[in-house]
Amino acid sequence: MSVKFNGKYLEGFLREEEFAQLWPQVQSAHDQLMNRTGAGNDYLGWVDLPVNYDKQEFSRIKQAAERIMQDTDILVVIGIGGSYLGARAVIEAVKSIQYNSICKNTPQIFYAGNTISPNALNDLLAICEGKRVSVNVISKSGTTTEPAIAFRVFKKYLEQKCGVEEARRRIYATTDASKGTLKELADAEGYETFVVPDDVGGRYSVLTAVGLLPIACSGIDIDALMAGAAAAREKLSDCDKDNDCYRYAAARNLLYRRGKSIETLVSYEPNFTMMNEWFKQLFGESEGKDGKGLMPTSVICSTDLHSMGQFLQDGARIMFETVVDICRPVKDFVVEADAANRDGLNFLAGLGLAEVNRKAMQGTILAHRDGGVPEIVLEMDSLEAADLGYLIYFFERACAISGYLLGVNPFNQPGVESYKKNMFALLGKPGYESEKAALEAKLS
Ligand code: PA5
Repeated sequence: MSVKFNGKYLEGFLREEEFAQLWPQVQSAHDQLMNRTGAGNDYLGWVDLPVNYDKQEFSRIKQAAERIMQDTDILVVIGIGGSYLGARAVIEAVKSIQYNSICKNTPQIFYAGNTISPNALNDLLAICEGKRVSVNVISKSGTTTEPAIAFRVFKKYLEQKCGVEEARRRIYATTDASKGTLKELADAEGYETFVVPDDVGGRYSVLTAVGLLPIACSGIDIDALMAGAAAAREKLSDCDKDNDCYRYAAARNLLYRRGKSIETLVSYEPNFTMMNEWFKQLFGESEGKDGKGLMPTSVICSTDLHSMGQFLQDGARIMFETVVDICRPVKDFVVEADAANRDGLNFLAGLGLAEVNRKAMQGTILAHRDGGVPEIVLEMDSLEAADLGYLIYFFERACAISGYLLGVNPFNQPGVESYKKNMFALLGKPGYESEKAALEAKLS
């Protein structure tokens, strides 16, 4: 298990001396993290989480997952942002984005409360018809509008379909240990509850019950996931120059100082799509503040080479790429020879698509580099649970160090409140009356 930083394709963009010059700042960021003296230091529970987690709750998660796997056709996971992306990212990376349509021994998993779209909600309710449904509602605050609306709907749906008592058995709530609307509701109704620890922020919470319960319900080995994260914690804890995670954080910071203000995360595996989304939240919400920060974007190749490829090769030189090179596919597919060879593809005969995909990746890295895009490559073994656990911890730690290098608090998100304030005022939520008229005037 490892994630290796390959800086070979940064040649011509960054010099080794620049890493050396930045290193005292990396050391200082490391010290802030380890001595808990940096901004946001009350949200560092994730640092030791891979070894220092609630073992009792962990086994309760496994028991609940067993139950859900036996009595459920569809698990609806309700949550948004950090209370949703990590679970979906891991499930779809390990089990493939198409697994939902073919899974046999585990429930199909659908997600609600990550949008306010009535279409999405209506479609999911239609899919649930005639199926045995369970719900995992996840909200640390317990008051986030999107999941709160979805939960109101699914609570009523379950109560109507199977009665109040059975609905209570089929609802699992993951929320604050002691406070909040969802905690109060869960206690009043007698739902089984799981905890979002106080010292772990939403985007760092995938290795808590937030991610672990849905992931376990999909049949993925959560012990392996945690073991991968623990291996990363062990390997990446020292601030030496061989620390691949810190070299990655340093490289992206140096590139930012050179005016590369967009990072594009690149994968050649469609199953990585939601990992891209998780990464974007992690880094976007952590770094993008005080007028600073790299903007995280993502592509899946070779798919997006046919849409974004032109810009990446030849457009404004404002970005660098971080390519996640997943070395081993789950199962390869060999191209066969064809006697007529009318499509001219016999030059590929006998080759596995993994090899073809790899050549596409190598060719693109060289082409984009020659086009002026600095290329970071992060090499990982596979998309199995343990490797993903390692990668998750690698990115979390890189993100914390990156935030401190940038001089921001990587653990808060004050900027996400502004839209909520406006939306509540426009919707007439009690307490927001004074802003309503002014906002409506701006819209008219
Ligand atoms: O990372 C974060 O803090 C956010 O993305 C939250 O997870 C998201 O807003 C959901 O919040 P909550 O879990 O309180 O419903």
